[in-house]
Amino acid sequence: MESPFKPDVLKGKVALLTGGGSGIGFEISTQFGKHGAFIAIMGRRKQVLDSAVSALRSLGIPAIGFEGDVRRQEDANRVVESTFRHYGRIDILVNAAAGNFLVSAEDLSSNGFRTVMDIDSVGTFTMCHEALRYLKKGGPGRSSSSGGIILNISATLHYAASWYQIHVSAAKAAVDATTRNLALEWGTDYDIRVNGIAPGPIDDTPGMTKLAPGDIKSNVKDYMPLYKLGEKWDIAMAAIYLASDAGKYVNGTTLVVDGGLWLSKPRH
Ligand code: HXC
Repeated sequence: MESPFKPDVLKGKVALLTGGGSGIGFEISTQFGKHGAFIAIMGRRKQVLDSAVSALRSLGIPAIGFEGDVRRQEDANRVVESTFRHYGRIDILVNAAAGNFLVSAEDLSSNGFRTVMDIDSVGTFTMCHEALRYLKKGGPGRSSSSGGIILNISATLHYAASWYQIHVSAAKAAVDATTRNLALEWGTDYDIRVNGIAPGPIDDTPGMTKLAPGDIKSNVKDYMPLYKLGEKWDIAMAAIYLASDAGKYVNGTTLVVDGGLWLSKPRH
């Protein structure tokens, strides 16, 4: 689908995306690139990174990939520094890296719980913390009056309770709290806008493949009247809105992009 945004809406902006080589992260990389941004993606798997970078470059998008795990502070630091060295500035950080699996609370080990907290929550904080120097107003490559943007990809699981995702629900709740607290502290002190996006079920993503039972598309309408799969494009358009000047007065919010699904109640 064609973008409703002007193709230069992110012109000259440098965006660093964790998990930017696959799924929702890759679609945001692509759409940011199509709207004028320079792209750096961070991921754990070299092959995924390489093919994402080639795909972006084949669209004429300046792109570079850096291997790294958001759970390792030294990786976070190295990737942020490398991005700055490569492009000379960092304007947008998107935290899209996430880990997930379905498991009952009874069967989940502490280490399993911790692993997802480490990737989603601590990883998001670590990346924000490492990037702060470059995102703050007056930082290297920036003017003294305007700071950068942070976007944290979250979920709606923790608005109520979700079966077999206690670890992810806890992790995303922490991500949302991080979004709000950084918006307050860094919005005030450094002119950095910090927002999140909470996607609903998005077609053709690792999340859907891993988490949705096979028959969900056929039965679900009975107990979730608003159930409709979204497209990765929907999330990327929300990301452009929040990352561009269109969202210049939006700070500390997590935008739910789920077709209203989390509000759904059974019909009777
Ligand atoms: C129970 C599991 C498990 C499973 C791992 N663990 N998989 N427990 N069921 N299926 C436990 C392990 O037993 C171990 O605990 C601990 O977790 C760490 O496991 P490792 O395999 O060592 O971890 P690692 O290799 O680092 O892998 C991380 C991962 C993996 C999260 C487990 O799935 C991953 O990297 N996934 C990334 C890609 C991904 O999932 N993307 C989808 C995101 S979708 P013990 O106690 O045995 O040591 C998404 C959508 C959210 O986020 C919102 C949806 C609506």
